Amino acid sequence: MSVLGIDIGGSGIKGAPVDVETGAFLADRYRIPTPSPGNPDQVIEVIRRIVDHFAWEGKIGAGFPGPVRKGVIHLAANVSDEWLGEDLTKLIHKATGCPATVLNDADAAGLAEMRFGEGKRYEDAYVLFLTIGTGIGSALFVKGELWPNSELGHLKVRGKDAEHRAGDGVRQAQDLSWKSWGKTLQEILLVYDFLLSPDVIILGGGVSKKFNKFGKYLKGTHAKVIPAELRNQAGIIGAAMAAEEALTLD
Ligand code: BGC
Repeated sequence: MSVLGIDIGGSGIKGAPVDVETGAFLADRYRIPTPSPGNPDQVIEVIRRIVDHFAWEGKIGAGFPGPVRKGVIHLAANVSDEWLGEDLTKLIHKATGCPATVLNDADAAGLAEMRFGEGKRYEDAYVLFLTIGTGIGSALFVKGELWPNSELGHLKVRGKDAEHRAGDGVRQAQDLSWKSWGKTLQEILLVYDFLLSPDVIILGGGVSKKFNKFGKYLKGTHAKVIPAELRNQAGIIGAAMAAEEALTLD
C-alpha cells in the first residue's frame, strides 16, 4: 500500500510516496522551500505542486509543525499565524481531490521511528521521542501507543522555551560548539527526565546524525538517550503511516 507522505517544515516542504508496509520511499523525495511567511495559501500551493510532481491520486498524509486536532491547526510557532483555526485536512482535499490525514510533525516522525527505527526495541516502554530542528518537537509513546500533540519544545526552562535554548536553530544562529550546545540540550533533557520519567529518550531530526559529537554531554538522565535511526525521512514516513491507518488524533 502506498501513500504520499508530506512533511511541512518552517524551511522546506518535502514529500515522497511511501510503501507503508516497509517504510521505504517509492521515489526520490521532492523538496520545495517553504515560501515566506508560510501562510495557508502558500503552503497549499506547494502541496499541490508536490502532488503534481508525483502525479499522485491516492491518500495523502501530512505532518504540520504545530498541534493538530481533528485536522485543525491550534498553534503555529514556526510558520504563519494565519494557520490558527484552519482545517488543513479539508484544505488539502479541496486543493488536490485526494483524501488527507494531518497530524503533528513530531508525532509523525515518532510513529515512523517506533515502527521502523530504534523505537522497535522499545514498544513496551515509555518513550520520549524528540525531533530537533529549528524547533523541538516531541512525541510520547506509552507502551507503543502515541499520546498526540505534546508540545514539550515550548516547556519553559529558566524562563525560555526549551526550543529557544536548545533547538538546532539556536546552535546554528549562534555558531555554538557541540560542547556548549550539548550542555544546554542536557539541561533540557534533565527537565524532561525529571517530569516524565521515560525509559528512553530518542533524539531525531537532522542533528541526530552528529550524535557522536554531542552525545557525550548528555549525562545524568535516568532514561537512556539514543539517536534516532530514520532522521530526516521519519516525518514523511510517519505521515504516510498515519494516513494509511487513518489515525484520528484528537
Ligand atoms: C511546534 C511543534 C513542532 C516542533 C517541530 C514546535 O515549535 O510547536 O508542534 O512539532 O516545533 O517542528
